[in-house]
Amino acid sequence: MENFAQYADWAYLVGAILFIVTLRGLSGPKTAIMGNRYGMFGMALAILTTFFLAPSPALGLIIGAMALGAVIGIKRARSVPMTQMPETVAMMHSLVGLAAVLIAIAAVFNPHAHHDSLHRFELFVGCFVGAVTFTASVIAWGKLSAKLGAKPLKGVWVKPVQATLFLAMVGFGVHYFMTESIESFLIMTAIALVFGYFWIAPIGGGDMPVVVSLLNSLSGWAAAGIGFTLNNSMLIIAGSLVGSSGAILSYIMCNAMNRSLLNVLFGGFGTAAAAAGGDGDGKEKNYKSGSAEDAAFMMANADSVVIVPGYGLAQARAQNAVKELATVLKEQGVTVRYAIHPVAGRMPGHMNVLLAEADVPYEDVCEMDEINSDFASTDVVLVIGANDVVNPAAKDDPSSPIYGMPILEAHRARTVMIIKRSMATGYAGLDNDLFYLDKSMMVFGDAKKVLEEMVKGVTGGGH
Ligand code: TAP
Repeated sequence: MENFAQYADWAYLVGAILFIVTLRGLSGPKTAIMGNRYGMFGMALAILTTFFLAPSPALGLIIGAMALGAVIGIKRARSVPMTQMPETVAMMHSLVGLAAVLIAIAAVFNPHAHHDSLHRFELFVGCFVGAVTFTASVIAWGKLSAKLGAKPLKGVWVKPVQATLFLAMVGFGVHYFMTESIESFLIMTAIALVFGYFWIAPIGGGDMPVVVSLLNSLSGWAAAGIGFTLNNSMLIIAGSLVGSSGAILSYIMCNAMNRSLLNVLFGGFGTAAAAAGGDGDGKEKNYKSGSAEDAAFMMANADSVVIVPGYGLAQARAQNAVKELATVLKEQGVTVRYAIHPVAGRMPGHMNVLLAEADVPYEDVCEMDEINSDFASTDVVLVIGANDVVNPAAKDDPSSPIYGMPILEAHRARTVMIIKRSMATGYAGLDNDLFYLDKSMMVFGDAKKVLEEMVKGVTGGGH
């Protein structure tokens, strides 16, 4: 084993390079599968290397834990629907946080270990980041899976409580750092667990994607912290990669919503909820509705159609049906493209993944910046189960909680058709003026069913 140890750093270096190549591959749909494979090789190499480095008494435990983890992981991966991915990711982050806490506690209690000041600092920071990540991720999981109310915790007392807990947590951590007091370490950990709750509970609705991505980043830094504690270079590198990529993603998502990270974390967005079908003054607003056949007729006779998918497409599992509609429209000579908003759906890249699953050609899929200027010259926009990402209030209503968030400018097209089941609001709980425009038509029903009827309508008529 000792001989092996000198090769371990080289194996870890190869693993780290594979992880970097993985991230590179994951940055585009064409290279994503290959990227994933590199990641699998890197992880297998890292696990095998660590396996040979571990002292033999622990081997049985490691194999047992890995087998148990693999069984649970495979079962969950096979059964989780796409719509439950964000909460699954949040749950996984909580486990990384918990692992960081348990390893730090084990290290603090290790009677043979001598903790110099650098090591105490790593333990203190790694443990509190891990503990905050753990509780915050559990709360995020609860909110996303609707097991806990999505409503934010409100009150003038919230911010003072957050500040007091934060200062107390850091205070006890510093005390541990100066005196090596195990009691202070445990009190700091307990406060960090409570702080995780008070940090996330006041954040509501539309900001959860940023929170999940930020927790992703924190779980990475917590893993890097464990890496220092265990003196394991692979964990330090992998944790830093996760930490920085999560931080960059949070930044990109804040930009996509035109918000600052501090505003997301302490601004209390997502608290407003407007009644569907009303204009806020209690007056009913009028909207038009039509059948799938009417909509199919209009699309088959258009020159250009832009499809805007949203969360409802995922919910209805309608990705194959939409691909089929695009195919039959193209056969009629219609130009069909897809417009993807960066936070459409419930996780980053949600729509891209669904469309890739249905083998939609990549060149038909356009990002928001690429396609926004084309809406004005588009004949028909077909909005499928999307709501917030096409809400014009984000552009024209300064009093709206989503004011300033970039949107897909579907309202500028000549005709807009919206498939959804009712006039209910979307994730942010806001009414949408797009639905009440003269040029808009609602097509009510489950997205998959409506799309299938549209396919029949197009193949039965057209140019
Ligand atoms: P939403 O604003 O949530 O609107 C989705 C719409 O789909 C709903 O209004 C719903 O209306 C409709 N729908 C649901 N099931 C349907 C079905 N089976 N068939 C047809 N329609 C269905 O979605 P969006 O426009 O994609 O915007 C995403 C929102 O989620 C944003 O506010 C974003 O901030 C937030 N969010 C995003 C993420 C990421 S990272 N993408 C993560 C968490 C949250 P009916 O009930 O009337 O059918």
